[in-house]
Amino acid sequence: MIFNNISEAEKDPILGLTEEFKSDLNPKKINLSVGVYQDNDGNTPTLPSVIEAEKEILDQNISKTYKPIDGDKEFTEKSIQLVAGETIFSEIKKTSFGLNTPGGTGALRLTSDFLFQFSSKSKVWISNPSWPNHKPIFEASGFKVDTYPYFNNESNSIDFDNLISTIKKIPKGDVLVMHGCCHNPTGEDLKGDQWDEVSDIAKSNNLLVICDFAYQGLADSLDDDAAGVRKMLQNLDNLIICTSYSKNFGLYSERVGCLIYNSKFGSNYAPVLSHMKKTARSNYSNPPAHGSEIVKFILSHDSLRDKWEKDLSNIRDRIKNMRSLLARELKNERSSKDFSFIERQKGMFSYTGLSKEQVDALKKNYSIYIVNSGRINIAGITTHNSKYIAKAINEVI
Ligand SMILES: Cc1ncc(COP(=O)(O)O)c(C=O)c1O
Repeated sequence: MIFNNISEAEKDPILGLTEEFKSDLNPKKINLSVGVYQDNDGNTPTLPSVIEAEKEILDQNISKTYKPIDGDKEFTEKSIQLVAGETIFSEIKKTSFGLNTPGGTGALRLTSDFLFQFSSKSKVWISNPSWPNHKPIFEASGFKVDTYPYFNNESNSIDFDNLISTIKKIPKGDVLVMHGCCHNPTGEDLKGDQWDEVSDIAKSNNLLVICDFAYQGLADSLDDDAAGVRKMLQNLDNLIICTSYSKNFGLYSERVGCLIYNSKFGSNYAPVLSHMKKTARSNYSNPPAHGSEIVKFILSHDSLRDKWEKDLSNIRDRIKNMRSLLARELKNERSSKDFSFIERQKGMFSYTGLSKEQVDALKKNYSIYIVNSGRINIAGITTHNSKYIAKAINEVI
C-alpha cells in the first residue's frame, strides 16, 4: 500500500515551533516566531476598517457563486493600482493583468507552476537568507533552487557587492526572486539606486524577476514601500509581482493575494494569462471571495480607504515603537553586543544575529520562541514583555 512506507514529514520550521509554544506551560512564554501582527496585549485583532467593510458587504447579500478563475476585475485592477501608484498604473493599464490568488503563497505557487511548464531548465535564485517557504514552493513545481548572497552577518546590513557579483553570473533565462520590501527574515531592504542596479543586470542578462511583495505599507508608507517594485515596473520588460493582503489588511486566514504580470509591450499578455488561468483551474479552480470582496470594498470607498490607511499606520507605528523599545532595553542591559541595528531594519522582522545555540537557550531557559535563523517577530514584543526579552537575550549571549 502506498502509505505503508512513508515516514513522518519534517515539521514546518515556523508553524512547528508554534505547536511547541502552545504546549509550553510557562506563563511567561513568548512566541516571537510566526509572522503575524499582534497588538500590545498579544492579540491579532481584525482591523476596524475590515470589520466595517464586512458589515456593509453582508448587507449587500452578495452571491456566493464562483468567482472567475482570475478573480474579480475590479479587485485585480485595484490591486495593480495599489502596487503601481496612479502614474505608473496609467502607463501599464493596458499591458498588465492580475489574478486573484489564495494569498501571497498562492500567487508564488501559481507563478512557479506556470513557469515550470515553459522553462523547466531554468534555476530559481532566492536570497540567502529568505522566507523559509520560498525554496519548498519552487521545488514543489520541479525547479532547482539556488541562492544569491544578501546579508552580511558581521555588519548586519545588505551584502550588496556580493549580491551584485553573484547575480551578474546567473545564466540567461533563470528566475530571480526579490523581496519588494520588509525583507523576510532580515528586515534589510535595497535602497533607491540599488534597485536600478539589480534591474539593469536582470534586464541585460534576460532574467525573469519575481517580486514577492507581501508587506506593502508595513515599513514606511504604501508609496515608499513600493518604490523598488515601481522602479522594476518601469525598468523591466517583464515582471511578475506576488502580493499578499495577509499582513497589510490582517486578512491572514481569508487567503487573499494577487499575481500581477506586466509585459512592457503587452504582446504576450493574452497567452500568459490563458496559461496562468489554466494552471489555476487545475489547482484551486477559482479564488476564495470573502477576502477579495473586503479589499475591493475598502479600496473603492474613499472614507473606508482612509480608515484602513489609519489602521495600517497604527500597525506600522507600533512596530517602530517596539523596535526602539527593544533596542533601548538591550542597551540598558549593557549588552556586550550593539543591537542598534534593530531600529534601522524595516517591517515585521528583525534578524538578531543570535546563533542556533542562543536560540535554543532562549527556548529552554526562558520559553522565548524564535526561529533558528535568529529572526524575531517585532510585533510579538509588548511594553509588558520587552524587559524580560532583553534580559533573556543578554543572558544567552
Ligand atoms: C516573504 C513572504 N512572502 C509571502 C508570504 C505569503 O503570505 P500569505 O500566503 O499569507 O499571503 C509571506 C508570509 O509570511 C512572506 O513572509
